Amino acid sequence: MTDKILLDVLKGKNVNRMPVWLMRQAGRYLPEYRRLREKAGSFLGLCLNADLAAMVALQPVSRFELDAAILFSDILMVPYGLGQQLEFREKEGPFLEPVTPDNIKNLVWKAEKLEPVFGTMERMKQKLPGHVARLGFAGGLWTVACYMVEGRGKSGFSRVMKTDVECPGFMDRLMDILNDATLEYIGRQIEAGAEAIQLFDSWAGLLKGKRFRKRVLEPTKALIEALKKEYPGVPVIGFPRGARLEDYKKFRDMTGVDALGLDQNVSVDYARAALKGKIPLQGNLDPELLVTGGDKMKESAAYIMDRLGPDHIFNLGHGIRPETPPGNVAGLVDFLRARQRQHENSRSSV
Ligand code: CP3
Repeated sequence: MTDKILLDVLKGKNVNRMPVWLMRQAGRYLPEYRRLREKAGSFLGLCLNADLAAMVALQPVSRFELDAAILFSDILMVPYGLGQQLEFREKEGPFLEPVTPDNIKNLVWKAEKLEPVFGTMERMKQKLPGHVARLGFAGGLWTVACYMVEGRGKSGFSRVMKTDVECPGFMDRLMDILNDATLEYIGRQIEAGAEAIQLFDSWAGLLKGKRFRKRVLEPTKALIEALKKEYPGVPVIGFPRGARLEDYKKFRDMTGVDALGLDQNVSVDYARAALKGKIPLQGNLDPELLVTGGDKMKESAAYIMDRLGPDHIFNLGHGIRPETPPGNVAGLVDFLRARQRQHENSRSSV
């Protein structure tokens, strides 16, 4: 056993308490994040300022009793490191110069552009308390390819869906480029101090059947295989958000992930009956419930905990929404801790 309960769960050890962390736990819902974001001038500027980004990554951990801190960066830093023009516009999200068969040759990976991101992880290693696990992350290759081809995220992904059907060779080439860049992006995070990695395949649910296999299952398997060759002891959490239930199962069984992240549309009962057992699960409280808080949030959290815990990694089904009151996050974490103590007491008094 280590003193990091999240790593214990990821490595299949027995634990008596459920680890908790929350996707997008560092972000706009926190006033102290908004202050540092303003100081940095832009979101990209914040990601490229190791001192400020490390402070941001630590903010949720100093407020709430969480078991992990996630690197403060973005899945789109890989396209940035490949030289693609990238901009985050206020309230509109990311904008990229779309990759096409004509300009794909301009993509050249330069890890040195991302040096500050690795510096963020080094600072997290120096500053985080010993029981808090350090998570690195990258986007799933399909999801990053979606943004690179589409150029943005807000208006849907019709261009990339069409490109994938009409120019599969181009998509293969892009996915290969992304595989190599992502491997180095993750490897450098591990060398800087990341103890586990999450792969966010946020748009996995756009695909099904053969295309899911080709763009999600196979590339994820290849990426994890290559990663494990170099870093066999570093667990990988996969998150094929929005995937069909049968595809979640295939993802669990075929990709080599050490844990499976569930979005809020996977019912807890299905997860318990069909997904739980082989590897730890993570998720899947609806982030909307964290916006409203109160008894409904607590009931759902208790349901997840009782049906899936304690070798479950408590989390949301997607990132914390910016309009979430920080008090609700405190309420959730305190509720989970108190309920766990109750369970422990009732076990020890039997
Ligand atoms: O605590 C953490 O999780 C922080 C690190 C983190 C960010 N993005 C910071 C961020 C992580 C792990 C991500 C992952 C990410 N980025 C994903 C996968 C998860 C998901 O949400 O599906 C995706 C698809 C992206 C791409 C991205 N980055 C989009 C679409 C946007 C705009 C939408 C939005 O929420 O604003 C971003 C911007 C972004 N990434 C912000 C943060 C804190 C907000 C930027 C700001 O401060 O204005």
